[in-house]
Amino acid sequence: MRNRDLPRTYRVKSFGCQMNVYDGERMAELLAAKGIAAAPEGEEADLVVLNTCHIREKAAEKVYSDIGRLVKAGKEAGRKPMIAVAGCVAQAEGEEIMARAPAVGMVVGPQAYHRLPEMIARAARGERATDTEMPADAKFAALPARGLGGRKSAPTTFLTVQEGCDKFCTYCVVPYTRGSEISRPYRDLLIEAEKLIEAGAREITLLGQNVNAWSGEDGKGRPVGLDSLIRALAELPGLHRVRYTTSHPNDVTDGLIAAHAEVDKLMPYLHLPVQSGSDRVLKAMNRSHSAESYLKLLDRFRAARPDIALSGDFIVGFPGETGTEFEETLQLVDAVGYAQAFSFNYSPRPGTPAATMDGQVPPDVMYERLQRLQAAINRDQLAFNAASVGKRCKVLVERKGKHPGQWLGKSPWLQSVFFEGEASIGDLVEVELAEAGPNSLAGRLVETALA
Ligand code: SAH
Ligand code: SF4
Ligand code: F3S
Repeated sequence: MRNRDLPRTYRVKSFGCQMNVYDGERMAELLAAKGIAAAPEGEEADLVVLNTCHIREKAAEKVYSDIGRLVKAGKEAGRKPMIAVAGCVAQAEGEEIMARAPAVGMVVGPQAYHRLPEMIARAARGERATDTEMPADAKFAALPARGLGGRKSAPTTFLTVQEGCDKFCTYCVVPYTRGSEISRPYRDLLIEAEKLIEAGAREITLLGQNVNAWSGEDGKGRPVGLDSLIRALAELPGLHRVRYTTSHPNDVTDGLIAAHAEVDKLMPYLHLPVQSGSDRVLKAMNRSHSAESYLKLLDRFRAARPDIALSGDFIVGFPGETGTEFEETLQLVDAVGYAQAFSFNYSPRPGTPAATMDGQVPPDVMYERLQRLQAAINRDQLAFNAASVGKRCKVLVERKGKHPGQWLGKSPWLQSVFFEGEASIGDLVEVELAEAGPNSLAGRLVETALA
């Protein structure tokens, strides 16, 4: 590679989970703090960061097609963008990327992106650099403070509190790409939350690969769990709502369930992945919970907060899954009545135990099962939305809708709600829900800006 100028503009493209969105924001802040400006909409950037996801095959393949597109667009414009590959594909396949894509100048893992500025300087000197070091301890301390330079926050934003996973489900790459479980310190999180609120955040979603495995010490040095962190955040003036995702059934505590009964600002929504309704499959997945123990947990959440909206994740076609075992997943879906759920075809991931298990399910069988599962989920989602019609609820306004005078916000149950009338982004307003579709509701504004 030849010597080149330092980039003046950047663009960060994040794929995958919400934690990647959070990391993308932190990278953007870091680059801005180093004097690199966000590329204006529609303009090519000098530096493009592809913040990638490795969870399923399709997600990972996207990286190479994106690199190809960037190189082509650069050629047409007579320039060569500096390309950095970040995120989980960078962690898992850094060397392959460097070998396969000469246009990539930097590969930086999810726990090393605080060193991006040094890598950019090296890239400008013509050196290609890879940094996929773990663990994460150093990263958060090294990043610039939130809201620096008067940066605004969206009304609803993410805050990573926990990273990594020690669960090793047999299908999953996350323990390898994100490393082992770490919890960020209580004090740092409260400071970051205050900064986000100052910058305009009204709802904070606490993030972790196993967010409810978060643990720390409170201001008095007492050991505390996620519920205490939620309670402390709920005390912060200016913040209307707290959410958290993704939880693991094995890390649910009595305290977390109680928080749903006692903390008003904690929204009545729980994303608790289960993956399958078959105990044999759950065992082969190394999930260490059963279908029944999962259902019992949900009952306890419902007892604490009867209107709680439930969400989950499912994998169909895990190696060895029989037709009968798949039926058990459908039965579990019927039993729960999800407000929302995410389902995926099993994707063999290199290096995971399930990838070499016997009984890989043929694609046509997998697709047929996925379609049946998604039909059941859509049915329940629509039923949940339809049951909300006639209710009045608070809606946090997130953005303008497509039509003039229209706004879009979220209900406490994370439903998208469209309404018309007087409002501004970041307002909490009262809306009567009037019409339900599978993915959103239409409402009538009852009261403007409540808080
Ligand atoms: N930590 C979270 C989820 C992480 S990944 C949890 O344990 O619940 C998000 C979802 O992607 C998973 O819940 C699972 O449903 C899906 N997923 C993970 N690995 C997958 C694979 N190899 N094939 C298909 N789906 C997968
Ligand atoms: Fe992956 Fe399982 Fe860890 Fe979730 S708990 S991140 S599915 S290994
Ligand atoms: Fe994807 Fe990594 Fe998130 S693999 S789902 S970006 S933790």
